[in-house]
Amino acid sequence: MTLRSRHLLGIEGLDRSEILAILDHARTFREVLDRTIPIVPALRGRTVVNLFFEASTRTSTSFSLAASRLSCQCVSFSKATSSVSKGETLLDTARNIEAMGVDGIIIRHPAAGAPHFLARNVKAFVVNAGDGAHEHPTQALLDAFTLREKLGDLEGKRILIVGDIAHSRVARSNLLCFTKLGARVAVCGPPTMIPPFVEDYGCEVFYRLDRILGEVDVVNMLRVQQERITASSFPTVREYRALYGLTAERLKKLAPEVVVTHPGPVNWGVEMDFDVADFAQTLILPQVTNGVAVRMAVLFLLAGGEHPEG
Ligand code: CP
Repeated sequence: MTLRSRHLLGIEGLDRSEILAILDHARTFREVLDRTIPIVPALRGRTVVNLFFEASTRTSTSFSLAASRLSCQCVSFSKATSSVSKGETLLDTARNIEAMGVDGIIIRHPAAGAPHFLARNVKAFVVNAGDGAHEHPTQALLDAFTLREKLGDLEGKRILIVGDIAHSRVARSNLLCFTKLGARVAVCGPPTMIPPFVEDYGCEVFYRLDRILGEVDVVNMLRVQQERITASSFPTVREYRALYGLTAERLKKLAPEVVVTHPGPVNWGVEMDFDVADFAQTLILPQVTNGVAVRMAVLFLLAGGEHPEG
C-alpha cells in the first residue's frame, strides 16, 4: 500500500481507504510496541528531522520514538538555539538540513500552510505536525485509532467535539477524519469559538453542552488555547468551565460506556476537572501511547520501509 501523496500535509488530502491503511499499519506497529524489544529494522539507514518552530511534548517525542522504534535516525531542531534566531528563513533552514542528508522533515509551525510550502520546495517527504490553526493530521489519526480500538468501526458513532473549534487544528483534522470514517460528528462551544459555515464539514452545531452530552458515544474535549484567542472571544475561565467544562458533576451524568478523549496538554480546572483523569473511560494516556504506533505507520508508509512481518 502506498499513499497517493509522498507527503502527509493534512487529513483533507487523504481518502477513507488511505486513512484505514494508516490505521491498519498502526495496529501492526502497536503490537511491536508491546514486545520485549520494541524495535524493527523497517527504516534502517533512513534519517528524519523534527523541525519544530512551536513547543511540543507529545508530538515531538512520539515522532522521535516512532523513528527510533523503526531503526530510523531522528535529529531534533530547536528554534531557540538555531540560526532562525539570527534571521534565517524557514526555507533556508529546511534546505540546509536537507543538504546534510535527511529523508523526511516533520514540521510544526505557527503559520498555516508552512508544511505545504516546504513540500513544494524540498525533495524530502514532509509531515505536518501541526500548522497554526489549520491541521494536525497525526493527532486525528491517533484519535481515530484509539477510538477504533475501544469502540470498533466508527461508522454511525456519535462523536462530540467540545471547545474552541475556531482556533483548533485538532478540531479541524478530527472533524475531517471522523466524518471520512462514517461517524456522526457534532461540535459544541461558545458562539465566538464556532467558525462560520462549520456545518459545511458535515457536522451538527450545539451551543449548550448539557443539551447534547447525553446523546453521544465519544466526548472529544479540546484545550482552551490561550495563546491563540482574544479576550473578546473568550468568556471568563469560571464561565467557560460552567458552560463548557467536563466537570465532576457532568462526569457523573455520563453513561458508563461513553469515552472521553483530549489531545493534551490539559488545562485542568478549565476545560476538564481533574476527576476526569480517574474516570475509567478516559483515553488520554492511551491516546499518547497509540500516537507512537500511528506515527510509526506514517513514517513507514512515507519512507517506503520494509514490512516488519516480511
Ligand atoms: N497533542 C499535541 O499536539 O501535544 P503537543 O503540543 O505536546 O505535541
